[in-house]
Amino acid sequence: MVRRPIPAALAVLLGLLVTACSAAGAQETERFGGTGPFTLVIGRPATAYLQSLLDRWNQTHPGERATLLELPEAADEQRAQMVANLQARSDRYDVLGLDVIWTAEFADAGWILPLERAMFPLDRFLPPVVDTAVYRGKLWAVPYTSNAGLLFYRKDLLAKEGLKPPRTWGELRDQARALHEKYGIGGYAGQFLAYEGLTVNFAEAVQSAGGQILSPDGTKVTMDVAKAKAGLDFLVGGFREGWIPPESLSFKEDEAQLAFEEGRLAFARNWPHTYGPATTSAVAGKFGVTRLPGANGPGTGSLGGYNLAVSAFSKRQKSATEFIRYFTSLENQRRVLADGSFPPVWAELYDDPGLIKRFPYLPVLKQSILSARPRPASANYDQVSLAIASAVSNALTPPFTEHDSEDVVSSMKGQLEEIIRAQ
Ligand code: GLC
Repeated sequence: MVRRPIPAALAVLLGLLVTACSAAGAQETERFGGTGPFTLVIGRPATAYLQSLLDRWNQTHPGERATLLELPEAADEQRAQMVANLQARSDRYDVLGLDVIWTAEFADAGWILPLERAMFPLDRFLPPVVDTAVYRGKLWAVPYTSNAGLLFYRKDLLAKEGLKPPRTWGELRDQARALHEKYGIGGYAGQFLAYEGLTVNFAEAVQSAGGQILSPDGTKVTMDVAKAKAGLDFLVGGFREGWIPPESLSFKEDEAQLAFEEGRLAFARNWPHTYGPATTSAVAGKFGVTRLPGANGPGTGSLGGYNLAVSAFSKRQKSATEFIRYFTSLENQRRVLADGSFPPVWAELYDDPGLIKRFPYLPVLKQSILSARPRPASANYDQVSLAIASAVSNALTPPFTEHDSEDVVSSMKGQLEEIIRAQ
């Protein structure tokens, strides 16, 4: 083949193109460039079993060691600490363990980087879980653990009384009251301190009465006052009638877990990770797990969980991204369940006979995750949640005669509308 000389003008053009391409390439590598030791920052409930997973990575990546930084237990405190760090544009945090409700806010603020979908086996994950990491059409994080609220119950006491696990609020109320009176223990509790956990418990009550608080995209208040009132009345009724113990007004996940493990509660609403520890507690062998009850049949939970994102201020973004790939692999997801009893994000693990034998509630959990409602993808979600939690907390605190449930939900609705308008 005879090579013709390239005309000068074309050569210049090609030269320009090559420079432009390599500049874009350089930018891309710079953006996800940077290798070296890095940190993984995540809230305490998720950290108990993590070190062994980090150790495995560290053994094979001596130059890119991962260090675990633990944040407090409550979601609100985790968020506050992360936001303070990111607002200061600090590079101390590399991989961020984000509660599923923060994707929109962190993406909007420019604190996390969009990721390339093709790098992660997202089609093998549970679809609603992947949705929590997507905002405005881009992937901002990779799902790491999912979550859905479950009802833990004392199977020994139900058997003694000839009762079946409750499916409706009416059944839960009757059984909780009866066990409370007969055995002198608390009937039912969830997370009733004023924080994100209470927002979740209220949202679940509203959903389980067939209602909704906001539209899924967080742009409209869609609350039907009668249904929201029904949800609130379920909780207020428990406190008023005494089958929800007053001390649960200070319960987060940990306190509810401890009360159940110590045999102080007949029923507890909690997340699945409390299953493992309960199997070695005073109630080992005496408890079961089922779906949350609702107004007229099984209820609808809120979708929880953690996604892993890369901080926009990290200087180790390449290592951070590689680590996320490792951490969300099938092999590690098996450990997330087997060692931590956290709900994995890989769909196939829920159908694994060996795992179902060890965690008999897996099919119930899968169903609960698939039917759970995501919390709205709103960049103002923290304000929305604060308004809900403080209104509900007031309503649950005695003397109950001071609050009419309908007034509480109507004024909450007004407040939410204001927050949404100001967006
Ligand atoms: C759990 C959930 C999280 C939720 C929090 C509320 O950690 O995974 O999504 O926001 O509980 O307390």
